Amino acid sequence: MAAAIANLDIESLGNQAEEMVQALGAISAEPGRLVRLFLTPEHRRAADLVAGWMQQSGLVVSEDALGTVRGRLGGTGKRRLLIGSHIDTVIDAGKYDGNFGVIAGIVAASYFARGGRDLPFGIDVLAFGDEEGSRYATTLSSSAAVAGVFDVNWLTQPDRDGVTLEDAIRAYGKNPDEVRAAAYRREEALAYVEVHIEQGPVLETRDQPLGVVTAIVGQTYFNVEVTGEAGHAGTVPMTLRRDALAGAAEMIQLAENLARENHTDVVATVGRLSVQPNASNVIPARVEFVLDLRSTSDSKRHAIAEQFCSGIRAIAERRHLGLNLAQTRNAETTLCDPRLQEGFASAVRSLEREPVLLGSGAGHDGQAMARLCPIGMLFVRCRGGISHNPMEYTSPRDMGFAIAALIRFIERFDVEAFG
Ligand code: HGY
Ligand code: MN
Ligand code: MN
Repeated sequence: MAAAIANLDIESLGNQAEEMVQALGAISAEPGRLVRLFLTPEHRRAADLVAGWMQQSGLVVSEDALGTVRGRLGGTGKRRLLIGSHIDTVIDAGKYDGNFGVIAGIVAASYFARGGRDLPFGIDVLAFGDEEGSRYATTLSSSAAVAGVFDVNWLTQPDRDGVTLEDAIRAYGKNPDEVRAAAYRREEALAYVEVHIEQGPVLETRDQPLGVVTAIVGQTYFNVEVTGEAGHAGTVPMTLRRDALAGAAEMIQLAENLARENHTDVVATVGRLSVQPNASNVIPARVEFVLDLRSTSDSKRHAIAEQFCSGIRAIAERRHLGLNLAQTRNAETTLCDPRLQEGFASAVRSLEREPVLLGSGAGHDGQAMARLCPIGMLFVRCRGGISHNPMEYTSPRDMGFAIAALIRFIERFDVEAFG
């Protein structure tokens, strides 16, 4: 197929995106792996790079109290189509998760800025800084602020070094008292759309570059602290131990068993665990871990969460362990607006590709933005479905298709339907 589709040069859009992905991907807290956490010096450097691209693209740039960078095309007074994603990353991340969605928004907006097209709506490109929740227990705080649903209680939560979100905002040069000002007025926002790598194998299996998201999976997070008693690994008989790690291991096994029994639409993961005192010849006294529980069925997720909580209480009692259980996230399954789904599907068809409909097992800022306005998502194929891993990769050609589809979507966006 010709590289260009009716005045959209897929190759050059994709090559431009790849260059930007590599430049953004080079900004990390650590040499040798990509780590960029919310409100850190690396977030600042990445935000500055993104702001520069927005300015060069003819967008008017601003930043709110949580560090969200906004590039505005089209004057105020117009209702606005919001296009965004996130520039924070997981630990040892891939370069495309979140970052490509911000780049796609900038490249698409610059297409209209350069073309001098006077659209009947404004476009705001948004670069959020807290989607991964890699620094604070809660997540989506920056998109929640933009959506007007920020919870001021989040300000006092500490990160692993004891730095509260409030102090981190100040250290970033912002004023926590101005978080509320980040919110759009409901009547201002027409819709929020996001381009994101699929982070799964469906598009590759279907041999299609683009997918239209139907819904974003619901998520429950539990922070679990198990306390036992430190002791000598060689002298304390097994029957007299209060081993926090052995107890935690039984709890984690329970979570996996519950998910495996419902494996078609439930996943459970413990990706983070800390042990104290963490010495090979000392019976562990304290363990802390986070359970990430997701399902496309909210009722099933809530039922399994219940079973997990009652199960670990029984384990703790039987083993004479202390237990401190806190639910730190509860995001309901979020539906993508059918009109936006159709907008993306028709844009994909205009590129002579088949729009694959699929759900998202990954969480996204759209879960917060759905509290403000209708949301839509476009997925782009990624190699082997690999993500949250430095091997994450999507080809310049597929990125070119995604940006071309976003441009087509914007050209055809029916503002009256959202008026
Ligand atoms: O965890 C997620 O699904 C997202 O990448 N934050
Ligand atoms: Mn993401
Ligand atoms: Mn992610």
